Amino acid sequence: MSILTAPESNTPLQSLDEVEDFYKQRYPQPMTEEQKKPSVGTDPEKKVTEFRNYEADARPTVREFYRLNHAHQTYEFALAKRKEYLGLNRRQMSIWEAAEYLNQLVDDSDPDTDLSQLEHLLQTAEHLRADGKPRWMILTGFVHDLGKILCLWGEPQWAVVGDTFPTGCAYSQKIVFPRFFDANPDSRDVRFQSTNGIYEEGCGLDAVNLSWGHDEYIYNVCKDYLPMEGLYMLRYHSFYPWHREGEYGHLLNAQDRKHLKDVQDFNPYDLYTKSHAKPDAMALRPYYEDLISEFFPAKVRW
Ligand SMILES: [Fe+2]
Ligand SMILES: [Fe+2]
Repeated sequence: MSILTAPESNTPLQSLDEVEDFYKQRYPQPMTEEQKKPSVGTDPEKKVTEFRNYEADARPTVREFYRLNHAHQTYEFALAKRKEYLGLNRRQMSIWEAAEYLNQLVDDSDPDTDLSQLEHLLQTAEHLRADGKPRWMILTGFVHDLGKILCLWGEPQWAVVGDTFPTGCAYSQKIVFPRFFDANPDSRDVRFQSTNGIYEEGCGLDAVNLSWGHDEYIYNVCKDYLPMEGLYMLRYHSFYPWHREGEYGHLLNAQDRKHLKDVQDFNPYDLYTKSHAKPDAMALRPYYEDLISEFFPAKVRW
């Protein structure tokens, strides 16, 4: 990220897209309706083999990214970042202003072929619109990655993007690159070693301290303004161990089980809508300004 001055070791990725491309490498096809049902299609042996292949095929930059992510995303780190950011006392911006602000994030990747942050948001939203999805869901698509402005506030890549996972309990072996957790101090904390760790069985994901990233941040910015379905899409769109791997059932409550399908329904629009046909942001702006004003106040706290 050319705009960041953080140490090299904190920015292994040339582009945040490298992580998203790696999701697509791991999950090349959208889930079928059968696969969305929690207990169907889980073959533990097969999954382990597949993970090994993904790991072997990962770019060195992506591997280094996950090494840092898994080593540093501790329970205490995730708590501290919630405390630091979720007072939403940094600034007040409209949603469109935030999208333009995020768009300053300049990757070192090829500007002719890669989408800007704003273009990814518009492409996600435009595909939802073309499929006749409700207005709140189109808007959810438009805002879903605005939490990546954390990068502009000096957060390292490993604290902004990548799969999220629960801290404070045992790690699922289906989280990508599970062996990198050996370097995480939490893996030696006696409180966190059992399946439930510090949590009550069935406590619900709202009570779980997930690793810190752009999902939790944008959820908090939007939580007074979008319906529950949209809020689940925002808060858990990077929680692949749950919505793609079906892990952490022991932490779920009835509300989580109900809304899993919403997170799964959103995922293809995030992952499989990228094309080199760039949306025309200026032409689309009036539609999105109108949509934003239907749900959000003129200024939102960030
Ligand atoms: Fe995202
Ligand atoms: Fe995205």
